[in-house]
This record gives sequence, structure tokens and C-alpha cells, in this order.
Amino acid sequence: MNVILLGPPGVGKGTQGVLLAEGKSWKHMATGDILRANRREGTSLGQEAQRYMDAGELVPDELIVAMVKDTLAGLPEGQGVVFDGFPRTVPQAEALDAVLEELNRALDRVVVLEADDDVLVKRIAGRRSCPDCGSVFNVFMNSPAQEGICDKCGAALVHRPDDNPETVKNRLNVYAEQTEPLIRFYEGREGVLAKIPGEGSVEEIQDGIRAAL
Ligand code: AP5
Repeated sequence: MNVILLGPPGVGKGTQGVLLAEGKSWKHMATGDILRANRREGTSLGQEAQRYMDAGELVPDELIVAMVKDTLAGLPEGQGVVFDGFPRTVPQAEALDAVLEELNRALDRVVVLEADDDVLVKRIAGRRSCPDCGSVFNVFMNSPAQEGICDKCGAALVHRPDDNPETVKNRLNVYAEQTEPLIRFYEGREGVLAKIPGEGSVEEIQDGIRAAL
């Protein structure tokens, strides 16, 4: 299956995407994670993306689409994919349609996770991320066993540079202006779009997503 997880910053796309991909042996394709890996490695893509990410703006479509195309083309035929954080604009969604068709893949589901802004802001304020393995924790709701240390790989956890309150405000605006219109874009496709509450326990939300698939 090819499944898109859509929703605002902090709604739990990464948390749910990892669980879904692990459970189903699918590829978790998180464009934000791929960009952050490029930044760590100092690639030209990472350097180009940095100023947009730190300002809470979207990285230009052409860079993102080329990156996704490359990753998808390298996957074995029939390998399921969970798209997390992509597409984020209508041109990205149109490009995804074209790439999937080229690769003989179909878009099976678009799962929209929804939560109130105050929940999102609190989750993001408490988020701590592992710069090495990408694991995500939360000081309020899902703290690591040892404060500041990744449970999985032992690296020091960080507060993402784009998780400061000013940038978060901009990311929420950018979501409303540029990404939310995708809900209407996919609404017209019969049986594709499913809206799931993004508030509740991680397990409850995962169950809701799986039921929608
Ligand atoms: P990206 O990394 O995709 O960030 P985002 O969409 O803003 O989403 P987040 O990672 O903030 O949140 P999430 O929904 O994954 O939530 P999480 O599971 O971590 O993008 C970053 C930047 O990269 C963009 O601003 C842009 O510049 C660029 N970019 C990326 N993709 C792009 C694209 N396609 N086009 C252009 N630019 C692009 O959860 C949040 C916190 O809540 C965590 O601490 C978690 O532990 C906690 N939590 C999760 N679920 C629950 C729960 N049920 N209960 C309690 N706590 C929970």
C-alpha cells in the first residue's frame, strides 16, 4: 500500500508513521527526516534547505520532489510506503501522482490526523528528538528513561531548531495556507481520504489509522 499521513506540525505523523511502517514492514518516507539527515551530512541539499526549515517555511517543491522521486525509485517493487510530511503543496501532490503512475504504484489512502492548535503547541514544546537515529520523545508525555538521552541509541537528545514558539506559529500558518488545501484535493477521490482524531493515546490513534486502511 501507499499511504499519506497528512496533518499539522506536532500532530503525530512521525510517531504514527514509524509504528505503521515497522508493523507492516513498509518504508517510512519522512521528508523532514531526510532533510535533517542531509543537514547533518552537510550535503548541498541540506545547506539549501536549512534557511527555509529554520524559518518554518517550506523547502521549494522542485528540491523536495526530486528527493522523493530518487528515494521511491530505489525501493523494491511492491514495497509499501508511508509518506510523512509529503506532499505538502498541491504541486507536490500532482508530482506524486505522476511519479506513482510512472512506477506503477497507486495511492491507496490519505489519512488526515487532526488536533487543536493548543495541543500541537504543547507537544512541540515538549518534543526532544534524537539527531542520530531520529527517535522522538516528549518531556511531558513520553520521556526517555534517562533525561536527555535517547533510549534507542544513547545519543544526546535535542530540541529541534524549528521547534521554538515563533517558528512553530509560522509553521502552523504555513500548514493552513499551503498544506490544508490538500484535504480538498484528495476529497474528490472516492474511498481515499480518512480523518482520524490525533488526540488520545499513541496506541488508540494507531488503531484508528489501521482501521482506516
Ligand atoms: P517535518 O519534520 O515534516 O515537521 P512537521 O510536519 O512540522 O511535523 P513535526 O515533525 O513537527 O510533527 P509530527 O506530526 O511528525 O509529530 P511527532 O510525531 O513528532 O518538517 C520540518 C520542516 O522541513 C518543514 O517546516 C519544512 O521546512 C521542511 N519540509 C519537510 N517536508 C517538506 C515538504 N514536503 N515540502 C517542503 N518542505 C518540507 O509528535 C510531536 C510530539 O508529540 C513528539 O514529542 C511526540 O512524542 C508527541 N506525541 C505524538 N503523539 C502523541 C500522542 N498521541 N500523545 C501525546 N504526545 C504525542
